[in-house]
Amino acid sequence: MLRNLASSNRVSKKTAFPRTWLILPILLFFVFVLLAQPSKEQPPANAKGSEYKIPPEDAAKPNPVKPSAESHAKGKKLYGYDCAMCHGKDGDGKGDMAADMKNMPDFTHLDALKGRTDGELFYIIRNGKGEDMPPEGDRAKDEDIWNMVNYVRSLAKK
Ligand code: HEC
Repeated sequence: MLRNLASSNRVSKKTAFPRTWLILPILLFFVFVLLAQPSKEQPPANAKGSEYKIPPEDAAKPNPVKPSAESHAKGKKLYGYDCAMCHGKDGDGKGDMAADMKNMPDFTHLDALKGRTDGELFYIIRNGKGEDMPPEGDRAKDEDIWNMVNYVRSLAKK
């Protein structure tokens, strides 16, 4: 008798629960999915079609690593692993993977990186650029990236 009462009580509570409240979490879920979509593809700084922007505080970051022979040697090694397949062994932009890539710079040109600060180059290497340049992300330590900045600058010859 008591058990009967309890279960009928449960049933009546269920039906009394307004149905609209069930729709709400479902709606919220879809809103969430829609909002989450664009950020999944790429960080906003790299969003296709929008202009590439480097935060001023990043651009102004001073290079803590002196462009010594040691720094160039370390930068060269990493460049060989992570960059040469696109930017070319000597930085001329003719790496194996670069044939169809747009905006490929030629680092051997004196003015290729002339307008860039070291901080900007650091930011580009860490975060990637445009459609084809992938980010180093967390693969490299700050010091490694500064070494690559120094190395890439040392490639300018003509
Ligand atoms: C998969 C090919 C690819 C790899 C790997 C790659 N890059 Fe790039 N990189 C590009 C392309 C393409 C651009 C031009 C991007 C644009 O401006 O749209 C670029 C641009 C740059 C620029 C910017 C020049 C400027 O002033 O805008 C620098 C500096 C650079 N790369 C350095 C590196 C370094 C250092 C590495 C290795 C850690 C690297 N890249 C790895 C393809 C690549």
